[in-house]
Amino acid sequence: MTKTQVTIAPAKGRLGILLPGMGAVSTTFIAGVEAVKREMAEPIGSLTQMGRLRLGKRTENRSTLIKDFVPLADLKDVVFGGWDIFEDSVYEAAVKAKVLEPALVSALKEPLDAIRPYKAVFDPSFVTLINGPNVKTGKNKKDLVDQLRADIRDFKQKNNLDRVVIIWCASTERYTEPSECHRTIQDFEKGLEKSDPNISPSQMYAFAALQERVPYANGSPNRSVELPFLQQLAKEMRTPIAGSDFKTGQTLMKTIIAPGLKSRLLGLNGWYSTNILGNRDGEVLADPGSFKSKEVSKLSVLEQILEPETYPTLYKDVHHLVSINYYPPRGDNKEGWDNIDIFGWLGYPMQIKVNFLCRDSILAAPIVLDLALFLDLAARSSFSGIQEWLSFYFKSPIVAPGLKPEHDLTVQQLKLHNTLRFLGGEELINHLGLTYYGVVEE
Ligand SMILES: NC(=O)c1ccc[n+]([C@@H]2O[C@H](COP(=O)([O-])OP(=O)(O)OC[C@H]3O[C@@H](n4cnc5c(N)ncnc54)[C@H](O)[C@@H]3O)[C@@H](O)[C@H]2O)c1
Repeated sequence: MTKTQVTIAPAKGRLGILLPGMGAVSTTFIAGVEAVKREMAEPIGSLTQMGRLRLGKRTENRSTLIKDFVPLADLKDVVFGGWDIFEDSVYEAAVKAKVLEPALVSALKEPLDAIRPYKAVFDPSFVTLINGPNVKTGKNKKDLVDQLRADIRDFKQKNNLDRVVIIWCASTERYTEPSECHRTIQDFEKGLEKSDPNISPSQMYAFAALQERVPYANGSPNRSVELPFLQQLAKEMRTPIAGSDFKTGQTLMKTIIAPGLKSRLLGLNGWYSTNILGNRDGEVLADPGSFKSKEVSKLSVLEQILEPETYPTLYKDVHHLVSINYYPPRGDNKEGWDNIDIFGWLGYPMQIKVNFLCRDSILAAPIVLDLALFLDLAARSSFSGIQEWLSFYFKSPIVAPGLKPEHDLTVQQLKLHNTLRFLGGEELINHLGLTYYGVVEE
């Protein structure tokens, strides 16, 4: 296989990470990075900080830390900012989110309290169960987009930044279908002028980011960079995008277990998933409109992994149900139950039960960090448009129109690793040891 070399601009200067939504996930992420910088904790779960990459043939015994192999921004050069409908500083929001131990949050009070959110673009018709005072006003939606663009520039200039990336960590908006204003960039611009009610805040943040050539990832199931016109804009602005919906608790387990069952050709009758969750995300998802966005994202995974049309005997009539119940006593410590009805040789039934007592934001925080650093790397490598190699991090990976997303975590990881090998000018690895099998001569 031939080696390719890509020119990557160095990670010089400071990288700004802007987060629409400074709630549980964002504050756990920011506090975590500040703790890691001070050597108070380890960045567990982050590929950019702890992941290793095998290089060359197995016989060469070469492996490297990912961060030593490709030029990623150093954590000491990272600066945080964001938007929220509440005025709380990151310190106050972290205290309220109750994800991290009070002692850790207190020890980080100084850097966290210094980060205060910009006023948000918010529309209660898209997120119905919360409301807050820290919200922009303007003569129309175009004006609000211009204000977001001004925030991005202000953040860059005040912090003397070289580059900025944006990761959406705000609440899940209600489910929407694309409308006329989403057909083309020009239709959207017209829609902004007349404040078309079909334009959601998350679409405005994404549009503002791309206009500013700022890489953008969508951590929720909202429909923003999933829209073809925004993907076209990302290409035109030579800016990378990624999404959607961080793959953390139950869906992470699903994309580990389901490909395993399928590779052994074990059949599936049904998969019943239920969750209890007590944080603000759970509160927002108690609204049927917001839950519908999440449900679509969670349900699509199994169908796309199992391919019932190709394997009708095994997966034709799978009963797949997902529910999320808002249960305040549990806070951010979600509990997910899965009952999986499978069948094997001659159709004999079996069951698998999974009880995952997870911590939502603890699982999401390293994903935010990796996405920020990898998107910045992508931009410096002149990658633009949809970054499929980052599918590893998402429940509903965005793909080019007409393609099926890849959900299998191990395949996603291989794609991510090979993209890094490509960037570093190393041979791609296909795990096919032809020499070893005696098929080809050494
Ligand atoms: N934690 C996980 O494991 C996980 C997994 C997948 C996806 N997500 C998604 O990540 C997002 C954040 O989750 P969270 O647990 O931090 O939720 P959260 O409710 O704690 O935080 C979201 C924040 O966004 C703010 N917000 C709402 N609309 C806004 C807007 N238009 N502009 C700016 N701020 C706005 C809210 O005030 C809140 O502070 C949610 O969409 C969630 O579905 C989380």
